[in-house]
Amino acid sequence: MQRPNYPSGKDLLSADAVSRFDLDDIFERAERHLRDEQQEKAGIPLEPVPTHRRRPKVIATLFDQRSTRTRLGFQAAAARLGHQSIDAYDTDRGRMGSSTGESIEDHIHTVELYSDLLIVRSHLEDMPYRVSRLSYLPVINAGNGADEHPSQALIDLFAIRQMRGAIEKLSIALSSDTRARFAISFAKMLRLTPPKRFTLCCLPDVPINPAMREAMTVLAGLGTEISLVHDVRHTLDHDILNIQMQDMSKFAHAALGSEAVDKEKETEPFTITAQKILEARSDTLILNPLPRFSELDTSCDSLPNAGYFRQVQLSVPMRMAILERMLLGIPWTGQAAASGPPAPP
Ligand code: CP
Repeated sequence: MQRPNYPSGKDLLSADAVSRFDLDDIFERAERHLRDEQQEKAGIPLEPVPTHRRRPKVIATLFDQRSTRTRLGFQAAAARLGHQSIDAYDTDRGRMGSSTGESIEDHIHTVELYSDLLIVRSHLEDMPYRVSRLSYLPVINAGNGADEHPSQALIDLFAIRQMRGAIEKLSIALSSDTRARFAISFAKMLRLTPPKRFTLCCLPDVPINPAMREAMTVLAGLGTEISLVHDVRHTLDHDILNIQMQDMSKFAHAALGSEAVDKEKETEPFTITAQKILEARSDTLILNPLPRFSELDTSCDSLPNAGYFRQVQLSVPMRMAILERMLLGIPWTGQAAASGPPAPP
């Protein structure tokens, strides 16, 4: 089979794939899509896009873990761009491995013949990397076990920029399991626009994940003031608090169809409530990749600090920007990340 020659840098597998140049480009694209959305909502017609001779692209989602935002968000973004999406994993949940008798090689080669871009979420850390090596198509890692979730990090940075302005001028706190994939990609991505201050809020008696430690060392080398705290109250003087549960291990490795794992209860020091925010007279913007668990009390929802649903809304123009860029074949120019996820500590 004749395979198109995609440049290296075709895939978004890790925050390492993104350079400052790429970040500026993707912010510009996302801002344009956001302006278009605002213009349309204001009833001002958009410039017509010439559609004749333009074949819609097909985006394939291959998810072996639950997802609401990432799967539907990319499908919505594809539709907004005039493209289509197919779900390569919905009808037969066992197919992305080899459990039903079809090898991953045959599965990926089949799906790539139907589509133009692959989006992979898996409980297995190496799955997006395997798919990337098997396919000539661009691949997005939509979350792989306890490794990374780079598109979520791009969304988080875009949301911060839209709601609080230049990231370099801000103090940012992250309260999370240091092994959580969203947290690792977030801390890594911040190197491209290092904040004034970065505070990690984590359990006192659990070692910090090496990938998180490395990302914090990089930030410190870039001049960011780094702190460590063990209670969310100590983050409420920051501009931003990006928060999720302190133990995400069950979620990171839960395959689709496994037992429900949403009954976990966060401990008091790592739970943010309206009472804590009001007592601190804090204007910290609260972000959360969602789904939320008990770390983010619903009492926060009516406060001006609650940024998490605006974050969801802003994810659509960002996902449009990611798809647009990758479907145009524009390579990611950060450090190459096609070899595989980091070895476990
Ligand atoms: N933020 C995020 O990854 O959400 P989903 O699990 O719903 O995709």
